[in-house]
Amino acid sequence: MRIFVTRVIPEDGLQRVREEAGDLGAELFIWREDRPIPRADLLTGVRDMDGLLCLLTERIDAEVLDAAGPRLKVISQMAVGFDNIDVAAATARGILVGNTPGVLTEATADMTLALMLAAGRRLPEGDRFVRAGQWQTWSPNLLLGLEMSGATLGIVGFGRIGQAVARRAAGFGMRILYHSRHEAPEAAAQISAKYAPLDTLLAAADVVSLNCALTPETRGLIGAHELGLMKTSAILVNTARGAVVDEGALFAALRDRKIAAAGLDVTDPEPIRPDNPLLSLDNCLIVPHIASATVATRAKMATMAADNLAAGLRGQPLPNCVNPGADVNRAGQQ
Ligand code: GLV
Repeated sequence: MRIFVTRVIPEDGLQRVREEAGDLGAELFIWREDRPIPRADLLTGVRDMDGLLCLLTERIDAEVLDAAGPRLKVISQMAVGFDNIDVAAATARGILVGNTPGVLTEATADMTLALMLAAGRRLPEGDRFVRAGQWQTWSPNLLLGLEMSGATLGIVGFGRIGQAVARRAAGFGMRILYHSRHEAPEAAAQISAKYAPLDTLLAAADVVSLNCALTPETRGLIGAHELGLMKTSAILVNTARGAVVDEGALFAALRDRKIAAAGLDVTDPEPIRPDNPLLSLDNCLIVPHIASATVATRAKMATMAADNLAAGLRGQPLPNCVNPGADVNRAGQQ
């Protein structure tokens, strides 16, 4: 057996992968540079592998699966989102795909609130102001921002993370609206969140938080029309995926003060290009896709990814699988 790991993951997970490789007598190959593996190296590296542990920085499409060849049984991604993986192509080849849901919910919700507060209360602007030596006096009109208490939060995508954001926001005294593919009346009732159609939510919200998965339905969900519905005082927070937002439209809305500010953990593409005009805006706060980046959460994600990999290699159901039963197609092929 052979296992390919596309980056050095946190030690808890890596140790688990090493142990598993030892037990199975498998050869372990690890891409050791702390940058995404170049496509050509990925295509060569996956050849004849039985298991692949990858990150959201790799595009795992039919070309990669074909390069891997028929031995590949399991793709274990160390992330909850899996929009970078062609799951249909994996399923057709009988390859199980694992992800890491649940363990990063709280850290990601924390980051959503951090961005909401930082953008809403203008923390980066304040920090730049102080460092530039501009702080002369306490001023009644200096850097006024959004009062969270009593404000309306509109959550787009009301799964685990969206609900965890809502629980936190309730503690700030916010009124909560949500929009989701499916209504979630029980979870919503517990936090007094109310379902709203997207346009209604966008028009009513002081803060819009994107917490949906990137799918064909949500790609470009927030464009010029949607931003135009938002209040001029409103803030957009994106901890989902960059491509949920039309970035050109977001730039125009922020520049023209059609909305007040944005806090982004994700962009499209990543990393953001140095000449992206969003970087020239004072009212746009951007951090480098670190919503799940706590020591504890990243260790859990790595261990969970290792567990999924191990199960797949052993022909067992993955503890967290996005295409359970796909291995039936493998049986059919052999
Ligand atoms: C991070 O964005 C993840 O999907 O885990």
